[in-house]
Amino acid sequence: MTTIQWFPGHMAKARKQVQEKIKQVDLILEVVDARTPESSRNPMLDEIIGEKPRMMILNKQDLADPALTREWVQYYQDQGFAAIATDAQHAKRLQQIPQLATKLMAEKIARKKARGIRNPMIKAMCIGIPNVGKSTVLNRLVHRNIAVTGNKPGVTKNQQWLKASDNFQLLDTPGILWPKFASQTIGMRLAFTGAIADAVFQEDVVGLYGLTYFMAHYPDALKKAYHLTDADLQAAPHDLLVKLTRTQGFGEEFNRMAERLIFDARQGKLGRFTLEKPGETDAETE
Ligand code: G4P
Repeated sequence: MTTIQWFPGHMAKARKQVQEKIKQVDLILEVVDARTPESSRNPMLDEIIGEKPRMMILNKQDLADPALTREWVQYYQDQGFAAIATDAQHAKRLQQIPQLATKLMAEKIARKKARGIRNPMIKAMCIGIPNVGKSTVLNRLVHRNIAVTGNKPGVTKNQQWLKASDNFQLLDTPGILWPKFASQTIGMRLAFTGAIADAVFQEDVVGLYGLTYFMAHYPDALKKAYHLTDADLQAAPHDLLVKLTRTQGFGEEFNRMAERLIFDARQGKLGRFTLEKPGETDAETE
């Protein structure tokens, strides 16, 4: 997992680098985590991208709640974006991205053809906050198996174009931007899913956030994973954490149980989940 800490200097540098790259492309692939679609967007991306066409890639759909992923895809489509849910680890649905891009860029392609260009290329790049799966999406799209090095903000190297299909090519490194720091809830969602480094949060606080969310939205997953009863789920979240800490063999070490819960959720052992719903404000979930 990435451990980038974002300071104002890093942000300015990342923004500048991304803006330079954006000038070279026709289309932006904005990669987000399907479990936290809005929270895992960079807060200034609209401003940074401007009017460039954009496709929302809701990645890690294999870990997210399928019904809510459908709602999120619809939500972004309603906002005028192309949107698709993917599981980049298994290349699921990635092959649809070049096709969707061709549809999205149809007018520009037609204009180029009218000017005599026989097979106009669509040039695109992946952008997003760390750990949403940008490199995995990119590598799978261009059929590249090697690990990407120098994939950090502030590291510059010569750009290359990599071919994803006959008329679709991508910049060889993704644009990396900082996560949102706007509210406690957003921070909790990002910490729980691993989008921000474990070192910067307290696992007992994040674990308790996750437990509270699952008690409200995915109680059956908790029951199954930790052999709980309906009565257990009526307890206050803090009391349930205490109980789980004991029954899972951690004695009085609540932070170890919290860590376990976070680990289990990230590994998919608590089933597929999504931590936010379209149209919901932070105040409603705080
Ligand atoms: P980034 O460039 O946006 O920073 O993300 P990257 O591709 O490096 O992916 C981050 C982690 O997420 C990787 O796990 C990667 O395998 C995993 N990942 C990417 N896409 C998907 C997906 O669609 N589904 C699932 N389940 N996982 C995905 P990793 O290298 O093991 O990192 P970590 O687990 O140690 O954080």
